[in-house]
Amino acid sequence: MDPNTSGLSQKLAEAGQSHLLQFWNELSPEEQADLTREMQGMNFQEINGFFKSAMETSSSKQEKMDTRMEPVPREVLGSVTRDRENLKDWELAGLHCISQSKVAVLLLAGGQGTRLGVSYPKGMYDVGLPSHKTLFQIQAERILKLQQLAEQKHKIKCCIPWYIMTSGRTMGPTKDYFLKHNYFGLDKDSIVFFTQGMLPAMDYNGKIILENKGKLSMAPDGNGGLYRALGNQGITDDMERRGVEFIHVYCVDNVLVKVADPAFVGFCVQKGADCGAKVVEKTNPTEAVGVVCKVDGRYQVVEYSEITLATAEKRSADGRLMFNAGNVANHFFSFSFLKDIVKKYEPQLQHHVAQKKIPHVDAQGQLIKPEKPNGIKMEKFVFDIFQFAKTFVVFEVLREDEFSPLKNADSQDGKDTPTTARHTLMSLHHRWVLNAGGHFIDENGRRVPAIPRDGAAGSVTDAGNRNLKDGTDLPIKCEISPLVSYGGEGLEDLVKGREFQATLMIDEKGVHELVKNGV
Ligand code: UD1
Repeated sequence: MDPNTSGLSQKLAEAGQSHLLQFWNELSPEEQADLTREMQGMNFQEINGFFKSAMETSSSKQEKMDTRMEPVPREVLGSVTRDRENLKDWELAGLHCISQSKVAVLLLAGGQGTRLGVSYPKGMYDVGLPSHKTLFQIQAERILKLQQLAEQKHKIKCCIPWYIMTSGRTMGPTKDYFLKHNYFGLDKDSIVFFTQGMLPAMDYNGKIILENKGKLSMAPDGNGGLYRALGNQGITDDMERRGVEFIHVYCVDNVLVKVADPAFVGFCVQKGADCGAKVVEKTNPTEAVGVVCKVDGRYQVVEYSEITLATAEKRSADGRLMFNAGNVANHFFSFSFLKDIVKKYEPQLQHHVAQKKIPHVDAQGQLIKPEKPNGIKMEKFVFDIFQFAKTFVVFEVLREDEFSPLKNADSQDGKDTPTTARHTLMSLHHRWVLNAGGHFIDENGRRVPAIPRDGAAGSVTDAGNRNLKDGTDLPIKCEISPLVSYGGEGLEDLVKGREFQATLMIDEKGVHELVKNGV
């Protein structure tokens, strides 16, 4: 339809975005229809307002946070290592809540996975484990197992609803993938997919960027787009209907994620918290994780790019980094807190500005791939609501047990890659077997030492699956299905007093040694 008669031209003119129609006459009728459809649903005045306030906040943020930051006080901190005597209680409390079907999990899976460089949703990624399970499958099986553990303990049927936030681009493939795999054994009705919003990329003058002559450059509105999506897609209503009282929110990329972790949930519930964050100790000042801290007396995550190196390197009297609460993007919310956020506070959350190199068409219609940033994307962050919490707590866990995110493609010395994800998961499962009384032997029948010897290059061959040839220690190949064990429990009957040769796989069908069997 002609943009003049449909009112689109006027709407764009009023918002100073008329350039979006500059190639109108060159578009086919289908392209014109697509562009019209895309723009009709957009509120340009609101988008201009987001741009203005995001740019203002970002320039006022230029003075670094450093002088306004304080570390998390000890009294809000729980730790799996320092509070061992309470851990069992927290776990039991969490499991009890799960058995009452009061706990839901919410997966943030709307990101574009640009750094990993795959065209499909990151949750469908296979990091190369012996089972070739994807991130989605691993998470689904952990949920299933946790339901079973809660049911066994409390003799009552329960459900952990799984809310999965996708974006326009990841929704279709994500849903198809779950359908194709029969929801990995979960009840289809307990999985709720929803989409977050998208926002256009803008140049520094607030003009929306055209990706090509007939299409705006659009990107998801950040993982904090969650709160708006929860409201406008009726997700909080769905939670209320199901009687959900506590929500564990997490990111798709962490292969070790303890979905609905009973200890974390129990800790937060027992502390009466409305909001909580899981952290690992940050030991390297330049590690690219946000830190949970207080800024001007309010809880917040400060991203590594927002502080100076001098602050990141500051140490306390005990030698640890002063700002060491590394955000692993696992959050706890009480339902009433989440509802307040969605209903009251969401509009107060500011968009963050990310400067990007955004491919676009210039005024002559030429496709340009810029070499330096030419515009911004606007994103809200999931943790920006910490400031509204009345009781905020922090739960510190061990990195080697719980945090190994997949961010980048494999490369030499790569960090947070498929290889590091695979290795950390296998070495965790190796430790589970040792803790349950099992042992590993090499191809000559010799016990593989539990603690790898330093510098023993070449002394153990690859057949033992520990390759020390170049001094780098590869983990024993060992994988335990989440359907068998959620967190290392229940393995004694299967492994105690037994010797295994890698590759060891333990799944619901039994214990398999893949090399011995010639697999
Ligand atoms: C995130 C955290 C960072 C933390 C790190 C740990 C945020 C804003 N930052 O950083 O503090 O130390 O993880 O690994 O949370 N996502 C959406 N929609 C979007 C954008 C992202 O759902 O519009 C999802 C992604 O699918 C992913 C998660 O949010 O599951 C994190 O996104 P990512 O861009 O990987 O965050 P990081 O910068 O690594």
